[in-house]
Amino acid sequence: MYTKSVNIMNIFTKKIMDIKKITILGGKGKDGTKEKVDSFSLKMGDIVSIVGPTGCGKTTLINDIELFANLNTPSDRQILINDEPVPDDLTFDPAKHPIALISQHTNFLSDLPVGEFLSIHAQVRGAQNIEQVVNETIEFANQLTGEAIIQGTAMTELSGGQTRSLLIADAVIIGNSPIILLDEIENAGIHKTKALELLKNYEKIFVFVTHDPTIALLSDFRIVMKNGAMQKIIASNPEEQQVAEKLKMMDDTILQFRSLIRKGENINQAYAGNFLQQTNYSTL
Ligand SMILES: Nc1ncnc2c1ncn2[C@@H]1O[C@H](COP(=O)(O)OP(=O)(O)OP(=O)(O)O)[C@@H](O)[C@H]1O
Ligand SMILES: [Mg+2]
Repeated sequence: MYTKSVNIMNIFTKKIMDIKKITILGGKGKDGTKEKVDSFSLKMGDIVSIVGPTGCGKTTLINDIELFANLNTPSDRQILINDEPVPDDLTFDPAKHPIALISQHTNFLSDLPVGEFLSIHAQVRGAQNIEQVVNETIEFANQLTGEAIIQGTAMTELSGGQTRSLLIADAVIIGNSPIILLDEIENAGIHKTKALELLKNYEKIFVFVTHDPTIALLSDFRIVMKNGAMQKIIASNPEEQQVAEKLKMMDDTILQFRSLIRKGENINQAYAGNFLQQTNYSTL
């Protein structure tokens, strides 16, 4: 079981920085016109999605956040932390950088075994009980994957989904990053609603770039993008949350069928009919 980040913090000797909020000051879209959203702040504990069609600038927006854009990127955005421009040492010192970005395309260059790789990272980050954090990280990742990750496996031998799961777990537990940006985790074949459920236990800022309606509706807010610009911010309401719960049930149904098919089971009409009847979508 995972507890709130406050407890996780206790196992570290270094605390990264006391971040209360992060603000995005709007710049311009691809055609050079001013973004409709002037400014938007995220506070600790917020879960935000960035949505919009392919090519509309979602990855560009999270890259701006990760880079602490300061009117020096093509979008002319500016990022503030606790209402102030970001100091240079946060931007350029990897040990102090408070943001972890799990990007759309991930590959490990290191062929160290998983356990060893995580131990080194935990040491660098000043964790006190290395074995405990490494085990917790692998346990967290394994709740998101199909096939469990084993400590002795080389990092380069992990599948795409295992890699993403491990990166998320590493950013949350070992990296202890207060701000985590995730670019389309739904495409890696990991258990995405489980990921969201686990992440909600941590008092951090999570930003999901997503095409997935369940993730978008389970977030507190969503930023809608078009043509490289932030168009509007929508806060999720109780009605949307209810729809999200139904969508989650549908996702779970699909996952259960996926798991049966992966195990080599035959699915007959009677079985599927029964199953779908039990999962009642009629009130959607
Ligand atoms: N505000 C902007 N100003 C100038 N160029 C931009 C801006 N926003 C996005 N672009 C450019 O538009 C292209 C597509 O953007 P991006 O990759 O961020 O889209 P995306 O929404 O992440 O797409 P996908 O859903 O396919 O991942 C990139 O070449 C990027 O540099
Ligand atoms: Mg993208």
